[in-house]
Amino acid sequence: MNTSVVRDNVYWVGYVDWDVRDFHGYSTTRGSTYNSYLIKDKDVAIIDSVKAPYYKYLLDNIRSLVSFDEVKYVVCNHAEPDHSGSIPILMQECKNAVIVCNDKCKSALSMHYDTKSWKFMVVDESSTLSLGTCTLKFINTPMAHWPESMATYLPEKKILFSMDGFGQHFASSGRFDFEENIITVLHEAKKYYANIVMLYGKQIKSVLDKTSNIEIDIIAPSHGVMWSKYITEIIERYRRWTEHKPVAKVLIFFDTMWKSTSLMADAIYEGALLDGVMVKKFDLKNTDITNIAIETLESAAIAVGTPTLNKSFMPKVGEVLTYLKGLAPQGKSAIAFGSYGWAKKSGQHDVLEILKQMNCNLLLEEPIQSQYVPTPEVLEKCREAGKLLAQTALKYK
Ligand SMILES: Cc1cc2nc3c(=O)[nH]c(=O)nc-3n(C[C@H](O)[C@H](O)[C@H](O)COP(=O)(O)O)c2cc1C
Repeated sequence: MNTSVVRDNVYWVGYVDWDVRDFHGYSTTRGSTYNSYLIKDKDVAIIDSVKAPYYKYLLDNIRSLVSFDEVKYVVCNHAEPDHSGSIPILMQECKNAVIVCNDKCKSALSMHYDTKSWKFMVVDESSTLSLGTCTLKFINTPMAHWPESMATYLPEKKILFSMDGFGQHFASSGRFDFEENIITVLHEAKKYYANIVMLYGKQIKSVLDKTSNIEIDIIAPSHGVMWSKYITEIIERYRRWTEHKPVAKVLIFFDTMWKSTSLMADAIYEGALLDGVMVKKFDLKNTDITNIAIETLESAAIAVGTPTLNKSFMPKVGEVLTYLKGLAPQGKSAIAFGSYGWAKKSGQHDVLEILKQMNCNLLLEEPIQSQYVPTPEVLEKCREAGKLLAQTALKYK
């Protein structure tokens, strides 16, 4: 049994997953949590559940606080299986429970589970659900990050159950932000935003606007720790990220077979080292897409390098560009570079095409290319390009 008190009569009853390292491709280097909450009032409500394999922990946690028959409401804010996965077993055990969700969620749940025997209470933003002394209100947050996504607000305790918004894949024994190293928590929140939410910046912005006039003492997300001491800090960051505001930062990433492209990346890096500019350089063999997404979020200018391989680019470069294109970072300036053997028109040009499709502002109309090993002249061009990237980034200082 592992429960925590969030506020009087509000409990955390979720599961801390110390071991998960790959969450649908997201590299969860610090594990995760699936947060479920229980409100004990005249009526008992559970807010969201945990990933299916961990249902026993959820049931034990609930059983330690109330009997299953006392559970009257199971609120489902989001149908994705990491949060809804244990709802079928909850509905089986809690015979008197009604599922509370919006109409889109009802339909999404029915496409995941056999919901025929479930009793539904469909709510919208005008609904208020009284639990006795407390009430629940609902805020639709469509496409943040699924169509049915919703947040639940408990005004009497000033708690916003924000679902995936403000979440972090971060396993910890502490349940609150102030119990953990806040630099780490904020980094994990940024990683989560970059990899899960970046594409939906506009929708997140409207959630921030919608919730700006309600009193919040605790933001209780579905993953990671709850925000209480650092609410201002996380909201300020979310605002900045939704506005796609870059900082004075240059990101260089590349792959290489025989080091020619790597030498070019080194020269770009050298050229970009201007005062006031942060420069980061990654050989894609030593990092992963999750990390590149974090680094991309606030970068003003990006250099993407690849050697030509079989008339195209390296698979890792393709993987990262496919991922980034999906996440749709905005307002980036970019260049392409790399080495080829005999066919000048592929490889680096293919990368340039993708950067165009990503609506990047191309600082150079052509990629910087080297036939095999770069000459001093090519390396000088790379240094100049690095300087150009840095000067572009400096505008955001
Ligand atoms: C397996 C393999 C496939 C290649 N395919 C092409 C190609 O289709 N077109 C081309 O111009 N060069 C091709 N090359 C040559 C490389 O692009 C060239 O050696 C380049 O300098 C490698 O850059 P790097 O040192 O950064 O890996 C190929 C090389 C290898 C090893």
